[in-house]
Amino acid sequence: MKITVVGAGNVGATCTAVLAQQDAADEVVLLDIKDGLAEGKALDIWQSAPIDRFDTKTYGVTNDYSQTANSNVVIITSGLPRKSGMSRDDLIETNAKIVKSVTDNIIQYSPYTIIIVVSNPLDVMTYQAYLTSKSPRTRVMGMAGILDTGRYRAFIADELNVSPKDVQSILLGGHGDMMVPLPRYTAVSGIPVSELLTKEKIDSIIERTRFGGGELVKLMGTSAWYAPGSAAARMAEAITKNQMRVLPCCVKLEGEYGLENVFVGVPVVLGKNGIERIIELKLTDSEKEQLYQSADSVKEMMDVVDKMKN
Ligand SMILES: NC(=O)c1ccc[n+]([C@@H]2O[C@H](COP(=O)([O-])OP(=O)(O)OC[C@H]3O[C@@H](n4cnc5c(N)ncnc54)[C@H](O)[C@@H]3O)[C@@H](O)[C@H]2O)c1
Repeated sequence: MKITVVGAGNVGATCTAVLAQQDAADEVVLLDIKDGLAEGKALDIWQSAPIDRFDTKTYGVTNDYSQTANSNVVIITSGLPRKSGMSRDDLIETNAKIVKSVTDNIIQYSPYTIIIVVSNPLDVMTYQAYLTSKSPRTRVMGMAGILDTGRYRAFIADELNVSPKDVQSILLGGHGDMMVPLPRYTAVSGIPVSELLTKEKIDSIIERTRFGGGELVKLMGTSAWYAPGSAAARMAEAITKNQMRVLPCCVKLEGEYGLENVFVGVPVVLGKNGIERIIELKLTDSEKEQLYQSADSVKEMMDVVDKMKN
């Protein structure tokens, strides 16, 4: 098994380290355009192998896509992160060009690879990778829902003073402020969260989660990387180890949830073929309404990509 991570910045390097620690593949190639950056970070990670006790070989390359040949999974993290005062949508044109050129190169050397997009604005960059790769929708997906649910679950664990391991949840829709929370499907070791927290408390946690990325940009001047890097690594591991994990991922809908040709987050089963299946939940009218609004905002941004002559 071989995984390529494109972009050796904060998210890409973290993701590579987590993949290695999980022994998610035989080798992980880290690629960046900046001379020596990927080589240096991959070597640093490899030197932690005897300490952290893993075998996954990590190595870095500067823009040499021939070294990525025959990757089973490619994670795209290349692109600008948000700075203070920017929305994810401000990044659209710059990052779409980067994701397009990266995907072109990747597909040339790994035509059957499974692509996981991390670059923002996430749902639209996943669309860009899908357009450029011309791969089936089962092989192109985006990482957002695992991060958004991670934030939500961490805040619930804090509030209840319980282990975050015991908090389960799923959500739908676009990334961040466009997410559609599903408190009905949130539980603490099987106990519905509504039995443990008031509606007001749950609502305030949802609000904090919606803007959880912005909270970190404000604190650090750039966007997060530990949780995003781990989340993307979990998706890749589910594929390389054929784990059939149920995770919220951004995928192209073709009729599911009554939506056509739009990329939004929904629960899927992830295994060796990528998206093995999409799970359709029965939604209330209000949840449906929120999902459709979220899908409409993603569609508006997909139009921007369409106008960029793909
Ligand atoms: N989906 C999510 O939930 C989520 C979470 C966090 C960050 N992000 C996004 O992930 C992306 C990366 O964030 P980061 O914090 O790692 O940024 P970063 O600036 O630390 O790293 C980006 C790296 O991409 C490289 N790069 C740029 N153009 C390239 C190209 N054409 N080919 C190869 N490499 C190229 C840069 O040299 C840099 O090293 C951003 O778009 C950010 O908004 C998404």
